[in-house]
Order: sequence, then structure tokens, then C-alpha cells
Amino acid sequence: MKDWMKMAGIRSSEITDEAAFKQRRTLIQAAMAAGVTGAIGAEAHAATKPLSQAIQKSEFSTDEELTSEETATTYNNFYELGTDKGDPVKNADKLVTKPWSLIIDGECDNPGTFTIEDILKPHAVEERIYRLRCVEAWSMVIPWNGFPLADLLKRFKPNSKAKYVAFETTSDDRLPGLGSRVLDWPYREGLRIDEAMHPLTMMAMGMYGNEIPNQNGAPLRLVVPWKYGYKSIKSIVRISFTEKQPPTSWNLAAPHEYGFFSNVNPEVSHPRWSQAKERRLSGETSGLAALFSAKVETKFMNGYGDEVGGLYSDMDLTKFF
Ligand code: MTE
Repeated sequence: MKDWMKMAGIRSSEITDEAAFKQRRTLIQAAMAAGVTGAIGAEAHAATKPLSQAIQKSEFSTDEELTSEETATTYNNFYELGTDKGDPVKNADKLVTKPWSLIIDGECDNPGTFTIEDILKPHAVEERIYRLRCVEAWSMVIPWNGFPLADLLKRFKPNSKAKYVAFETTSDDRLPGLGSRVLDWPYREGLRIDEAMHPLTMMAMGMYGNEIPNQNGAPLRLVVPWKYGYKSIKSIVRISFTEKQPPTSWNLAAPHEYGFFSNVNPEVSHPRWSQAKERRLSGETSGLAALFSAKVETKFMNGYGDEVGGLYSDMDLTKFF
């Protein structure tokens, strides 16, 4: 048992698996970073601007207790800004979001390069409270602000060959994490076209009624609530309609651990840990307090099985994980 565990009051019996171990370690690091660099965290927090648009509530929201905005914006995975949970907020200013443009290409009738303003303008903003279930077995409940991805994609008129949608994050060389070889950059993700067009799939440009902070994927990110968090790609610069299944970053890095589909499924374990439960970072949980947040049962498709189960009815989910 390590000294820091004793300090944090962690009993050996609590150390159940590698995922939990790693999670506690990163939580402690995040808590320590928050303590040491509290001013930076506070600045990043204060810098978030309220959205100017009216925000409509959505029927798709869960009524579970929200994760605090502070936790959701200081405990992040955004490897381009560093691999520790506290790195993205510390390095947030290394992501330059103005100006920002998006390339839309591939199998569609209206491809082009668009400014972020062109992309956002026609869309009314909704608030959708979704669970974000990370593959590392923690979860948050976040009020995202955005609009259905389908409404955006339809504007570019995908043709009959568009079977998939591929997404790419910026690989601006000012991002400090790009020096690491942990992933092959740019970060890439993909969805089957029916998943991309599903009404639950959203594009977020805000959270908690504020503009989305850089560490959470400014100026535009995907949110796919029934899939593990790594599918929800941040800071998108390119969307391509493709005929073939596109390569995706985590699948390229470790194909036997991270499948293309990545649907949340408590019955399909990660090869190195179970996915049956998750640690819910809810309420005012932040820093060290997060260590003691409750474990809850993970739900099939992250609780959205009724809505999306039909997309996979003819598939063996242990094979297509
Ligand atoms: N997108 C990019 N470009 N780079 C990343 O490292 N991490 C993913 C996903 N999107 C990631 C990314 C993972 S593993 C998770 S769990 C979520 O972002 C975390 O989103 P959050 O930090 O807003 O909670």
C-alpha cells in the first residue's frame, strides 16, 4: 500500500482492479493540481461566457443529479492537451479556437469549408442532460447545450454512398500533447450513418449554459450518450461522409480493447477490467471528494437501450463491441 493511499484514506480492500487504481491515482493528481494551481482553474472557470442564445429544454434529458460544473471542466480526457486528468484545464489556452473552420467532404452534394459561425448559425440551442460514461468506469451527468447532429449533416446532403461519418480533431502543432505517441494524431472518430442521424446524437457548443470551455472540446464537439466517452470527439475540424468504415484513434491504438462501436455494455468487459459498474462523479464532487463518490450499476447502452437497441438488433455485441 502506497503512502498517498493511506493519506487519502483508501483501504487495500477497496482496490478492486486496475481501472479503479488508475482512476484514484488520476483523481489525486487532479486534486493536487487543483490545489497547487487553483488560480488557473478558477481563471479557466471564470473565462466561460454565458451563451447568448435562448436555450430550450429537451425531452431527452435525464433527471439524475448533475455533476458540478467545476468537476466537469477540471477532470478531463483530452490527450492533445495532456494525458493527466488535470492537464486539459491547465493547458486550455494552448488550444486556439479563433478563427475556426470546418471542412465537410466525402459522399455528399454540398461539401465545403465553413466558418464555425456558418456552422452554428441556423441551429436553435437545446439543453440535454446526458450521462457521459467513460471507458475508465467513471461517469458524469452533464447539461450539454447544442443541437442534433442529424440537423447539421442534412445541410450537406449526404448521398446514397454515405454509409459512415468520420470526424477529426484539430492537430494544430501548438497543442502540447501531440508530442506524445500514445495515439496517432489527429484524434479520429466515426459513426455508422444511422448512429450519426439518430436523434440522441448531438453536437455541443456549450455546457451548463456557458460556451464550451477549451478543455471540454471548444468550439464544437460530438456527444453520443450511449457510447463510451472516447467516441465523443472534441474540437472538430473535419467531417467526412464515407462509404467504408473509417479508422478511429482508440481502435487503431488497441483494437482488441476498443472496438468501432464502443456501445456501453455492462456485460461486455474491457479485457483488463469489468464494465459492470461505474463511479458517478455527481453533485459537488471534485478533487479528493471524488474518490468517495458512489459506484452505480452501469446500464445497457448507458440507459438508452430502448431508444438505440434496435440499431444493433442483428449484431453479436460481444463481437462488435
Ligand atoms: N477528443 C479528443 N480530440 N481527444 C481526446 O483525448 N478524449 C475522449 C473524448 N473526446 C478525447 C476526445 C474521452 S476518453 C472522453 S471520456 C471524453 O472526451 C471526455 O470528455 P470531457 O472531458 O468533456 O468529460
